[in-house]
Amino acid sequence: MRRTEIKTVLTADFQSENLDQTVLIKGWVRAFRANRFIQLNDGSCFNNIQIVVDFENFDKAILDRIKYHACLSISGKLVESQGAGQAVEVVADQIEILGENNPDDYHLQPKRMTMEYLREKAHFRMRTNTFSAVFRIRHAIAFAVNKYFNDRGYYYMHTPIITGSDAEGAGEMFHVTNLDMENPPRGEDGKIDYGQDFFGKATNLTVSGQLQGEIAALALGKIYTFGPTFRAENSHTPRHLAEFWMIEPEVAFFDIFDNMDLAEDFTKYLINHILDNYPDDLAFLDQRIKDAEKNLSADKRRPMGLIEMLRFVVDNDYERITYSEAIRILKNSKPYKKGKFEFPVEWGTDLQSEHERYLVEKKFKKPVIVRDYPAKIKAFYMRLNEKDENIPGDTVAAMDVLFPYIGEVIGGSQREERLDLLVNKMNEMDIPEEEMWWYLELRKFGGCPHSGFGLGFERIVQFITGMSNIRDVIAFPRTPGNAEF
Ligand code: 4AD
Ligand code: MG
Repeated sequence: MRRTEIKTVLTADFQSENLDQTVLIKGWVRAFRANRFIQLNDGSCFNNIQIVVDFENFDKAILDRIKYHACLSISGKLVESQGAGQAVEVVADQIEILGENNPDDYHLQPKRMTMEYLREKAHFRMRTNTFSAVFRIRHAIAFAVNKYFNDRGYYYMHTPIITGSDAEGAGEMFHVTNLDMENPPRGEDGKIDYGQDFFGKATNLTVSGQLQGEIAALALGKIYTFGPTFRAENSHTPRHLAEFWMIEPEVAFFDIFDNMDLAEDFTKYLINHILDNYPDDLAFLDQRIKDAEKNLSADKRRPMGLIEMLRFVVDNDYERITYSEAIRILKNSKPYKKGKFEFPVEWGTDLQSEHERYLVEKKFKKPVIVRDYPAKIKAFYMRLNEKDENIPGDTVAAMDVLFPYIGEVIGGSQREERLDLLVNKMNEMDIPEEEMWWYLELRKFGGCPHSGFGLGFERIVQFITGMSNIRDVIAFPRTPGNAEF
């Protein structure tokens, strides 16, 4: 007999065709109540199936082995449920223990466990309600990313993970080498001779696929990348990983305003996809946060419930302001005047998460896109704006998309397509032209205005699932001091 997934068994179609027939189900025990009711889950969906065990029909020896998270294969008759809470249940006919579990030695218990504890047990945490919901949704967002772009004629580019350039300036990079680090070859100056390394030069793990994405956009028109990126910065925040995935569309002929339209439409699409297709997982995650925050004071609680927060994004037009306007607004704000901001608000310094959240949650009450940042705090490739006498310094056509609770989810820009301005900027920032020769040639030979952005995949998964720490939306987080599993 073939196994049926629980997700299928729980559909009305399957039930109308198979009621009072025998079904075969496999999965892990979530609960075994009163020696009579097993809650079995196979990961195919949020819900369990209830198995009714008539203990007179089974050896006590078998029943004693039905423990929390043991793996079972059960065949039995699918019947209408006698109890409340489920439409159908399975009356067990045969029970086979596929994988024994001894709860005394096991790491998980059927009770609330802290996220920190579960992170240390990453090989089992996906068996919990919370993590299985998170990882189903993570999958679905990845699927929606590819669907969104495919349906709109974008091409998926796989950009390299090992790179020879360090130009993005997005943070410290991880070196990639196969030199003998105990005894590396050295040049006459005593420095390590990377000429003898595997690639004949020093190489790193990429921080972004953008620069190669630009190559593709100037040939295929509309492209996106979706791959792992690495940053060796020593951040211990709940929003930073050393290894994370990024989605980077890059589009020929787009200016910064087209770029903002794309960012808004794309993020709304992803959220709507989950609202429409994962109501059970979302309802569970929503309730979980409400329970966890019940006893917190109002200022420690989130600004709104999870589903409410998702609706807050999809039901509003994103507010669009310039960085200079943002600084003006912040300087006139109550928290600024009362000295409540921890970080300074000064034209020329970057916005901090507290400022971003004020703009989104208090001032506009909708997602906000901030553009035209000071050139000094942004990457070399961003397009220089025309001088504005009313503004203290040069700005570039950069944009950040800000969401409630987590702040920045997207960073992007219109790219500098004018060769002379780009070269000036690189010289100013000490970026060697020799290393970036190919990037410069894109401006020399058939260049055009173009734009793109990067969406941090774990940031959007974190936003949609409401998890407070980004380490809990990637299966095996890489952070300073941590690369277990
Ligand atoms: O703002 P960032 O650094 O932009 C870039 O890398 C550009 N090359 C993107 C582009 O224009 N194609 O990073 C983009 C996004 C951020 O908005 C954030 O969501 C996420 O990537 N991000 C991180 N996510 C997790 N951990 C980190 N350490 C992250 N750093 C950035
Ligand atoms: Mg950024």
